[in-house]
Amino acid sequence: MSSKAAGASWCFYPADYKGYTIGNITGSSIGKSVRLSRALSSASLPFPKPLSELKIDVQEETETRIRVKAKNQIYICTYKFCHFSFDSTVAPMTYTDQYIEITVAVPTSNLYGLGERIGTLKLKPEEGPKITFWSRDQPPDPDRNLYGSHPFMLGVESDGKAFGIFLLNSNAMGLVKTNPVSVNYKTTGGILDFYVFLGPSPDQVIQQYSEVIGKTMMPPYWSLGFHLCRWGYTNTDNLRLIVNDMRKKQIPYDTQWVDIDYMDSYKDWTLDPNSFSDLPNLVNDLHSYGMHFIPIVDPGISNTVGYAPYDDGVQRGIFIKTHDNSSFIVGKVWPGNTVFPDFTHPDAENYWYTHAKAFHDKVNYDGLWIDMNEPSNFVKGSLTGCTTGNIDEPPFVPPITGDMIDKTLCTSAQQHLSSHYNLHSLYGHFEAKATYDTLKKIRDKRSLVISRSTFAGSGKYTGHWTGDNHSTWADLIYSISGIINFNMFGIPMVGADICGFAGAVDVELCTRWMQLGAFYPFMRNHRDRDGDGQDPASSLFTSTLPIMKKALEQRYRLLPYLYTLFYRSHTDGRPVIRPLFFQFPQDPKTYDIDRQFLWGSGLLISPVLVKGATTVTAYLPAGNWFDIETGVESMGGTHVFDAPLSKINAHIRGGVIIPTQDHDVTTTKSRTKDFTLLVALSTTGLASGELFWDNGESYDTTGGQNNNFIEFTAENARLKSKVVLYDYAVKMTLGSVVIFGVHSRPTIANFNGHHVPFTYDSNAKVLRFQHLNGDLLRTFTFTWS
Ligand code: GLC
Repeated sequence: MSSKAAGASWCFYPADYKGYTIGNITGSSIGKSVRLSRALSSASLPFPKPLSELKIDVQEETETRIRVKAKNQIYICTYKFCHFSFDSTVAPMTYTDQYIEITVAVPTSNLYGLGERIGTLKLKPEEGPKITFWSRDQPPDPDRNLYGSHPFMLGVESDGKAFGIFLLNSNAMGLVKTNPVSVNYKTTGGILDFYVFLGPSPDQVIQQYSEVIGKTMMPPYWSLGFHLCRWGYTNTDNLRLIVNDMRKKQIPYDTQWVDIDYMDSYKDWTLDPNSFSDLPNLVNDLHSYGMHFIPIVDPGISNTVGYAPYDDGVQRGIFIKTHDNSSFIVGKVWPGNTVFPDFTHPDAENYWYTHAKAFHDKVNYDGLWIDMNEPSNFVKGSLTGCTTGNIDEPPFVPPITGDMIDKTLCTSAQQHLSSHYNLHSLYGHFEAKATYDTLKKIRDKRSLVISRSTFAGSGKYTGHWTGDNHSTWADLIYSISGIINFNMFGIPMVGADICGFAGAVDVELCTRWMQLGAFYPFMRNHRDRDGDGQDPASSLFTSTLPIMKKALEQRYRLLPYLYTLFYRSHTDGRPVIRPLFFQFPQDPKTYDIDRQFLWGSGLLISPVLVKGATTVTAYLPAGNWFDIETGVESMGGTHVFDAPLSKINAHIRGGVIIPTQDHDVTTTKSRTKDFTLLVALSTTGLASGELFWDNGESYDTTGGQNNNFIEFTAENARLKSKVVLYDYAVKMTLGSVVIFGVHSRPTIANFNGHHVPFTYDSNAKVLRFQHLNGDLLRTFTFTWS
């Protein structure tokens, strides 16, 4: 270990630094313990409290998961497994109280994940000191630590085999990818607790990761509809105009949101008595129309005596405390001076529930938008600053933006579980959990939580939006890697602010963004209070409204497929959105693609991301693909497709069956409509698909009961269904079947043994059956010849 090997990381150390030497290795074939001792002759480093003895356990927890963890809260290792080595010959290891460094050798430079960050999907070869982890109220710009922390990476080797590495550590961290094959981690503390996932497919890596961090929540069906929001709705009259305009123009739309404008002096759980006093009526009206409503709440609680959420929190003692536990730490957010609930406190959830419930009794909301939860603070540390000790001024800080106490609380602040130094990046995670549990108690139905700050595992409770982006084409592009990353992080319910949050509204950009946003799992149009509104009903969009509506209608038709993908994510941990290499890991041409993406394994989206463009260059991996609108077939390869402003290219992969439903203005209505199966035959005439269906909002539907589950297969000019589970009594009508890739006109077709009429498009080779009025809950067979 003391011999100096080639590797850039050595340059971080004094020349005579020796790190640790390996002692005894004991154990069995599935587990090993290693003792390490710090080399006494090591040069001293400027970090206090180095650990002289480390004991590491390396455990093969499952066949595809290895965990490397310290006993007695401490560990490190040089254990070689498969292609991975936590290898001190690449760089020495340091283990002190406030500085831990380790380098992991990896077998490829095709690395992905590590966020929250914005940029290319695949890490660039030179991606260096700027991958940092420390939750921050930071608009999504490249090379910065953003709102959440996900120290998970996925790699793909040249043979297409994938692996994942997760460092379970919430401390501030910096990462350097050294060319070609090592990743250097530096953290400000905690322990090293690595998980290695062996795949071998990318999809399996994510499933294995989900077994450790938890599976994603099952979103309510309505939350897959279109959400509309803005900061700057000045009053309910103004908001009503927009709601009514959206309805008058028959724009599909499920959920209206309100930003901090609705509050009384920006205080949580209050209503502005002048401009939003009749919000409860507006919400009732939304509900009567089959729509839903979500308000924002921020964690900063105004420290005004006489304001119940403050008085109650003081009495329960649940706010975050100063370094010496002598008082509650005070910062500043929208309502002025604020204290911050400590969601790790055992009574915090009761506290949160109490005030959320009292407000729910007034305003019947269906979900909560939890913002500013990095936590964000408009003053540095606190109103009275921070301490000068090495917790607020640590000996090592990774190259994050600003100081650790910048735009947030003093790291010396005290929480029930530990110091804010250790818990900072978990603030949003704990708030999301409390909010999820609270909504479950209040509504007893699946609700939607959308959180700005997240940590590994937050997907169990919440979705995410990518924060305060800009109305630029660059942000449109980056939104794709953003949503793919969060799907790798186990938070598939994710979207970017459609049309951009900040900056002037641009009609062409916003139209393209509505088209792309119609393929975000979480589709919300939101902007700030400056300038014009950008809701699709706005008069700005008179010329492109039909295009926006078309995009929305297509999304609504595809929701049964999207919902089934969420079911798979919830039960198996499979990502909803996937980069192309997830399905085609053997094809190196897919490794760098981040301007196209897949819904599940079957639907490829190739949006226009360039101003003025009317074509799009798209890569179709091997196989046959069908334009979802026209049914025109294309084979694998690079294509230039027509993409006038009215069109976003989406292709169904040959071999896949996609369940759809007629669209309507809300999901409440579209859920009752006829189903259509889109059957895309592979070159050998095969296809398969599935449909999960339940009431869309109970908690008890995904455990093998209270739902319907249907499988579809096509083979040899025969399409059949199998009702795997029928445990939810509801009408499900099969209206149409569209079969792509039928190369010659059939002369006869049968549905359950009876002749049925059909149409055949000999140009596109599409066979269509309509007005079937079939029962989807009874096994059926189609044949054609
Ligand atoms: C933050 C949020 C943004 C919201 C604003 C006002 O900037 O990220 O979405 O509109 O606060 O609440």
